[in-house]
Parts: sequence; C-alpha cells; structure tokens
Amino acid sequence: MTTNPAAEQARQAEQTNQADPADRVRRTSRAAQDYLSELFSLEGRVAVVTGGSSGIGRAIAGALARAGASVVVVARTEAALKTTVEELTAQGCRAARVSADLGTREGVRTAAERAVEAFGEPDILVNCAGVNLRPHLDELTEDVWDTTMAVNLEAPFLLGQRFGPGMAQRGWGRILNISSQQAHRAFVQSGAYGASKGGLEALTRSQAEAWSPRGVTCNVLVPGFVMTPLNARLSSEPETVAGLAARTFIGRNGLAEDFAGAAVFLASQASAYVTGQSLFVDGGLSVH
Ligand SMILES: NC(=O)c1ccc[n+]([C@@H]2O[C@H](COP(=O)([O-])OP(=O)(O)OC[C@H]3O[C@@H](n4cnc5c(N)ncnc54)[C@H](OP(=O)(O)O)[C@@H]3O)[C@@H](O)[C@H]2O)c1
Repeated sequence: MTTNPAAEQARQAEQTNQADPADRVRRTSRAAQDYLSELFSLEGRVAVVTGGSSGIGRAIAGALARAGASVVVVARTEAALKTTVEELTAQGCRAARVSADLGTREGVRTAAERAVEAFGEPDILVNCAGVNLRPHLDELTEDVWDTTMAVNLEAPFLLGQRFGPGMAQRGWGRILNISSQQAHRAFVQSGAYGASKGGLEALTRSQAEAWSPRGVTCNVLVPGFVMTPLNARLSSEPETVAGLAARTFIGRNGLAEDFAGAAVFLASQASAYVTGQSLFVDGGLSVH
C-alpha cells in the first residue's frame, strides 16, 4: 500500500497509461501542441503585410494568417488583393486588403491609416513590397532611383515610424523587412535596387536599436533568387535559372513558400531574443 500522495498519484497515472495507451498519446500530443502554440501561435495578433498580394509577400501573409494573425495585405492592384483575401478567408483566416501606392509619401500615409481600419493597430509589420528596375548604371535615371528608393526604402521607413512607436508603447511588436542578396553583393545590375536594400538592412538595425528595449524586435529576411513575378524576365531564361540553382547548396532556386517558416518564427514569441539580424533564406547561395 502506497502512503506517499505523490507516489500514489504517479502509480494511478501509470495505471491509466497502461489502461489506455491512446489516451496517453492524445495527452502527449496535446502537450506538444500547447508548447508549439506558446512559441509560434499568432492568435490575437494583427499583421500588416505590404506586397502581400504576390510572390514572397503573399506567402508570408498566408503563413501569418494560418498561424492565427489577422492580416491586412497592402499593394496597388485591387484584383490580386481581392483574390488573396478571398483565398485566406475561404481557409478560415481573418484577412483584409488595402489598395494603395507605396511609391509616394501621401500613398504610404493613406495606406497606413486605412490598414488599421479592419483590425486595429498592428503588432506585426512586414515590409515586402518592392520593385527591381534593372537599367545599367550608365542609363540609370533619377526617376528610377527615386521610385526604387521610395518603394523599397522610404515606405518601410515611414511605416516603421507610423507603427513602431505604438508597438513599443504596448511593449510588444515585430518588424520584418524583406531585403535581397543584392544588399550584400552586386548582381545582374544591382543599380539603385542593391543600394535601397542595403539601406533597408541598415534601417532595420536602427529600428532594432530604437525599439527592441521595449519589446519590438526588428529583423530582415534576405531572399536569394526566388521564382516570382518580380523575376519574370530572368525566370524565362532557362540557362540563367539553372545557373542560379547550381550556385545554391540545396540545388534549386527559391519558392515563395520557403519564407513561411522563417516569417512565422520572426513574427512570433519564439524570436523574442532575436533582433537586428539578417536571416538569409537562400538555399545557401550567399555562402557558396
Ligand atoms: N523574387 C526574388 O528573387 C527576390 C530576391 C530578393 C529580394 N526580393 C524582394 O522580395 C520582395 C517581394 O518580391 P517578390 O519577388 O515576391 O515580387 P512580386 O511577386 O513582384 O511582389 C511585389 C509586391 O509588391 C507590390 N508593390 C510593388 N510596387 C508597389 C507600390 N508602389 N505600392 C504598393 N505595392 C507595391 C506588388 O503589388 P502591386 O504591383 O499590385 O502594387 C506585389 O504585391 C521585394 O521586396 C523584393 O525586392 C525578391
């Protein structure tokens, strides 16, 4: 006869386990789900994803929404935004859209104010909208420079200024900026694009310095070569595509879906001690 209550409890638990192994499996998997939720669930969070209607941004918006966040996607083309939101809603996710041009300061301000209408102030900001205009530096006009800087660097800066301080005041936030390997190396006419992405990575470190002490982590995802509409011209050259795939360790070019896990990680509680970092999601391209 066991007299120690803890030992008695353990004996009874053991008996239950022996009596019903399926119940033991169920309880173990529930504990695993609870643990994963604690780390990665975005339930109750609000995310704004620029460029969320296409390519990498669309995959990130979908990943955050499936992980539980209410997601607002921002881009210009209404039809693509509508399809994205309809697809997410059909999957049981909460999603809304804002059509706006992030190429002007006024457009960014309007986008920010309209983005909070559906679900309130965001906890997570993903700056993924980007343009890659590739004239040779000899032919690079001031217009191309201005457009590139406006969409790729100034819009993330302005959206950070609009949402970062609020996140800091509330004590929790995540900013995720999407850069490029061209922030680190010149490649197929990096021109203004590489300069804008280099600036974006530096901006991210400044944001991390400013807001991380108050719970807002700020990080960068660095894609390699990803088969999206942005790369339509290069993607149509089989030799280029094969050559770039051969430069990775994994042996293939990136897919938009490759960014889902890293984005959920950097948007979640699991990354609370990761800030000011650039995470390369490139199949090893940058270290090959
Ligand atoms: N694909 C790659 O290999 C690669 C590599 C390195 C980095 N990246 C970066 O990853 C990000 C996503 O690129 P992606 O390949 O997924 O490209 P994508 O499929 O062409 O998507 C770009 C997104 O940005 C939006 N956008 C562009 N200009 C905008 C503007 N003025 N205002 C508002 N939204 C605008 C687009 O929507 P609308 O056109 O409808 O506005 C679209 O939703 C970009 O920042 C890009 O620089 C991509």
